Amino acid sequence: MVTAFAPGKCILFGEHAVVYGQPAVAVSIDAGVEVTIRESNSWILEGMPFEPSRHPHISHIIDDIFDYTGRPLKIDIKSGLFSAAGLGSSAALSNSMGAALHHLVNPDEPLDLISLARIGHSAEANAQKGRASPTDTATSALGGCVVVSGERVKGTQHVFDATLETPEGSRSWSICRASLPQVDDTWIVLGFTGIGSPTGRMVAGVAELIERDPQKMDDIRAIGEITSSGLASLSKGDMESVGFAMNSCHEKLRNIGVSCPEIESLISAVENHSLGTKLTGAGGGGCMVSLTRHPRRVAECIEIAGGKPLVSKLGSEGARIL
Ligand code: PMV
Repeated sequence: MVTAFAPGKCILFGEHAVVYGQPAVAVSIDAGVEVTIRESNSWILEGMPFEPSRHPHISHIIDDIFDYTGRPLKIDIKSGLFSAAGLGSSAALSNSMGAALHHLVNPDEPLDLISLARIGHSAEANAQKGRASPTDTATSALGGCVVVSGERVKGTQHVFDATLETPEGSRSWSICRASLPQVDDTWIVLGFTGIGSPTGRMVAGVAELIERDPQKMDDIRAIGEITSSGLASLSKGDMESVGFAMNSCHEKLRNIGVSCPEIESLISAVENHSLGTKLTGAGGGGCMVSLTRHPRRVAECIEIAGGKPLVSKLGSEGARIL
């Protein structure tokens, strides 16, 4: 029997702008997905017969990545993440499945987190018609603070490059690590609106907006600049400035039409207790994030406003065998 865990992620800066080559900054969060696999007489997922076509991430890892021909597996999944909420739950599932199967097949070979990030990215791309950024899978595999960009970002440590053949042509990204300050008095609190975040639709909506109004590219470039200054503040441990950059980033995200009334209402509920607040992920639903020194207060305010809170440190350990 093998159990593996991979964390979810929160994008602090750069969502949507990253689609246009700007950098994005994400941190892993404490909550994630745990997968347990054990050999069995038949293929079972969560107590039911396993139907590969209904679980493309898992079946891609078993068949295409590992070409697994061993005994059938009983697979159990425990998730601490809201799904379709922009917290990277499918990336965390892919990474923990990849880590668990790697350990079952090669028990003496240590887990290589870069290979795991590539496995997770391949599973996401396979399940999303060839379109997936490596942000979620890299952050979940490596843990800590990860910067994904069209080109290497100054002040970060380059880890690996990822390329993907998409229906729109070949895309490549540079994946870097950024150092996180030793701050033990600041948390992030995620607030889930309860509405699924339709990433594909939101990305398409931004593309249409820019086509109608090319001036909106100014907002995309501004998000890129805010991301760089937010990252510099984060590396220095200047959390007030990080919060300020988050607020500015959210204003630009609003300008490109990706916020929604439910996100705005959770943000209003917590802004007095936060260093900064913004939507995180694709928007149109999904989650907002508060950077705060009062996590319990913020979590209460989110609940009162009708959202579901999740408190985390910034940047937990990455994927691992338990
Ligand atoms: O909803 P998420 O966490 O998958 O975030 C999407 C981030 C976008 O920038 C909107 C899309 C992307 O591929 O980077």
